[in-house]
Amino acid sequence: MSHTVAAAKRKSGESVRKPAHPSIHPDEIDAFLRTVRSLFGIDLSSYRRSSLSRRLFRRIRLAGGSSLAEYLDILAANPAEREHLSRLLTIPVTEFFRDSKVFDCIEKEILPPLLLDGGLDGGNGRELRTWCPGCASGEEAYSLAVSLERALPAGFRREKIRLFATDVDERSVDRARRGWFGADRVRALPPEVIGTFFHPSGRGYVVDERIRRFIRFGRHDLLKDSPIGHLDLLLCRNVLIYFEREQQERVIARLASAVRPGGFIAFGSSEALAVPSAFGLEPFDPALRIYRKAG
Ligand SMILES: C[S@@+](CC[C@H](N)C(=O)[O-])C[C@H]1O[C@@H](n2cnc3c(N)ncnc32)[C@H](O)[C@@H]1O
Repeated sequence: MSHTVAAAKRKSGESVRKPAHPSIHPDEIDAFLRTVRSLFGIDLSSYRRSSLSRRLFRRIRLAGGSSLAEYLDILAANPAEREHLSRLLTIPVTEFFRDSKVFDCIEKEILPPLLLDGGLDGGNGRELRTWCPGCASGEEAYSLAVSLERALPAGFRREKIRLFATDVDERSVDRARRGWFGADRVRALPPEVIGTFFHPSGRGYVVDERIRRFIRFGRHDLLKDSPIGHLDLLLCRNVLIYFEREQQERVIARLASAVRPGGFIAFGSSEALAVPSAFGLEPFDPALRIYRKAG
């Protein structure tokens, strides 16, 4: 309990789980999830029951069902519905420079010393490695790329920088890779950022090639796949809140092990670590949910 994400602790603090739906017991949901996994290979068991069941019942109504049993029949008959169910917990809400103070801190306090690391100059294969898992449609990764570009010392060799951006949801990854954003998505950005890092394209904007070149997009499931390693900076924001406490702890431990000693991890604004040392982390700017790997 003590190691967990504070927000989840607050929200799921009850010792007895409340029913997701007035007439349905949480055990029935667990049984439903087991059946769905064995029949259709869709595994939602690691996701928090509260958000899962809310969304599940909305989905059942939209599919024309009125109970879990009926919904199982609908799933068996309809592959498109199985697709909807597997995407139930991929919630692609994001924005450029979300929680702008986090990006200010990254650009002004974290990146400059990392970029001055003498090892990056040598022919020793040392790279500056960054990763945004759960990147949704890419705004977070492109924001980090803009911060990197602005923090680069003159003459820095760009090929030394790796920015991985991944998501469990293939469609989000495709959208992110395209690097095109509707005008409403970039509206809140300062005009000089739009002018420097975007080009008008149709009814929106496409990200400049200089920024795109930093990023490698791919599919990655935080619950199943091994983490990308040897990281200097990892942004895993607003993803852990959807996981059950046990899974949060497992994922945080794996992510922390993927960061080099002295490297940084940023979580979302409601994802404070109660005991960072349990994961070998030290607070760097706890108000911003930024931690540093000890050692
Ligand atoms: C609310 S968005 C957060 C986007 C971005 N990190 C931000 O803070 O703006 C959550 C993202 O987590 C992704 N996600 C959910 N489960 C995941 C998992 N098991 N592995 C990787 N990504 C996952 C969803 O597909 C979604 O794109």
